[in-house]
Amino acid sequence: MQKFKKIIAEEIAKRSADAFGGTALEPNEIEELLEYPPDASMGDVAMPCFKLSRTLRRSPIQIALSLEEALAGADIGVSAKALNGYLNFKVDDAMLADQVLSDVFAEGASYGSPRIGEGKTVVLDYSSPNVAKPFHIGHLGTTIIGHSLKRLHEFAGYKCVGINYLGDWGTQFGKLIVAYRKWGSREDIEKGGIDKLVELYVRFHKEAEENAALNDEARLEFSKLERNDPENIELWQWFIKISLEEYSKTYSQLGIDFDSYKGESFYTDKMPAQIEKLREMGLLKLDDGASIVDLSEYNMPPCLILKRDGSTLYPTRDIAAAVYRKQEYGFDKCIYVTSSAQSLHFAQWFKVVEMMGYDWYSELVHVPYGTVSINGEKLATRTGNVILLKDLIAMAIEKVSQITAEKNPDMSEVERAKIAEEVGVGAVVFYYLSNSRIKDINFILEDALSYDGNTGPYVQYTYARTCSLIEKAKGIPAPEKYSVTTEEERELLKVLALFPEKVSAALEAYEPSVITHFILDLAAAYNRFYHNCQILTHEDAEIVKTRVALTKAANIVLGTAFELICLKKTKQI
Ligand code: ARG
Repeated sequence: MQKFKKIIAEEIAKRSADAFGGTALEPNEIEELLEYPPDASMGDVAMPCFKLSRTLRRSPIQIALSLEEALAGADIGVSAKALNGYLNFKVDDAMLADQVLSDVFAEGASYGSPRIGEGKTVVLDYSSPNVAKPFHIGHLGTTIIGHSLKRLHEFAGYKCVGINYLGDWGTQFGKLIVAYRKWGSREDIEKGGIDKLVELYVRFHKEAEENAALNDEARLEFSKLERNDPENIELWQWFIKISLEEYSKTYSQLGIDFDSYKGESFYTDKMPAQIEKLREMGLLKLDDGASIVDLSEYNMPPCLILKRDGSTLYPTRDIAAAVYRKQEYGFDKCIYVTSSAQSLHFAQWFKVVEMMGYDWYSELVHVPYGTVSINGEKLATRTGNVILLKDLIAMAIEKVSQITAEKNPDMSEVERAKIAEEVGVGAVVFYYLSNSRIKDINFILEDALSYDGNTGPYVQYTYARTCSLIEKAKGIPAPEKYSVTTEEERELLKVLALFPEKVSAALEAYEPSVITHFILDLAAAYNRFYHNCQILTHEDAEIVKTRVALTKAANIVLGTAFELICLKKTKQI
């Protein structure tokens, strides 16, 4: 609809001098005033004239009336009506259909792209699980939000580098090595995968409560690993491989891939240079033996760089990784998606990067999200109340498979399995992305899977509906001229026209839920149109052609929006 706002703003600007005795208004200034009235019957776009009242020294009512008069002869396909200090605009049906549909068909899968990323690079750091620890539902946020942000940026033309910054280094590997040698077997782990590693890790903690010496052993094994002990290196690489195999299954179900898996271990030899720089700049302070950067001036606790024993910390690695990424990719933006529990960590080390004189500090962006609970229960790793992501997805797939079998008893097994996966995974993704990311989410699987709520299955069903209608309409040509005759068609066109603005808003706020909500609006508008308007059976051939075209446009835009939130375009459900 932005396009219409522009047309309106320009026309008003052109005519304002005459209308207001010489005072001309700027198109930009007018465009900013334009809004969408909450009640569509008032118009498609409205201009409240209250703010102009001061500059123009007239009442809003007068301003609206003068503009209505001034615009009376304008041939822009938009009519204006003054009402109580507002100027309400209605776009002509023909113009609305012409502009929106010709844009959608001309641009196809790129309709809606703001094209702001050309020649620019964005690095996205997301998912980043800690190897050999459970990949639980808490990781859903970073994984899905991160990937959706990657798709959004790609859509806007940015070159994107998705990085899985694996937690593949740290004392947990010492613990795992000890536990493996004491209680593990290679065969068992090859067969049982990451679950077996987690079991060993949990057992280590249990036994260490009784036997503190185990912790010393673990420290020793980790320091051997740090000194490249070949046996420990081999085990460490194997643990990572086992973990990655498991993650890959989940990633491929979600339709997610990464451009780099450079994890924490990669930065070990890149930290000393940054620590040295901090020291040279006089930014490091000793605090009880540890080295810190004092951030009290910025009202933050100090950023820890080195522990008393000289070992590095989470922020140290992040600083080294950011410097490396800037050199390697020359990013224009580097985005980190993590739980909001890490907000302080990011604020701290971003500040340290700034203090180090790296002028690109302002290109670092932290995108936080809220916590996830399931059926009202908070996750607690310690008490074992962990729901694994793969189990949640498996439950969703199983449920959809049952529903599909009941609905379509004749469907082949293979077909059913495919649909169950697409819709099951889609249900989880869509439900998760329905809330603004910072809100805490209570995941209720039953709600996510409902076929008639505002859910993944419902919007995928709507998409499938457009596909089957297009299939049936094969051979029906595009109309010479669009013939829009109902309110339902108008509303559908207006929703389609809003897509480019929604994409921009989602990018600006790093908020995939803007797209999720848009999909719901589009699905609702399409379904109202589908139920209330005869499409293929209408007697007027031109009306049929227009309605088929509307269906095709809805199909294209829904499809694009699905891709932006990693939802599969299922043709049958
Ligand atoms: N591995 C970390 C965790 O699971 C997340 C890493 C986020 N990315 C980063 N560059 N710090 O908590």
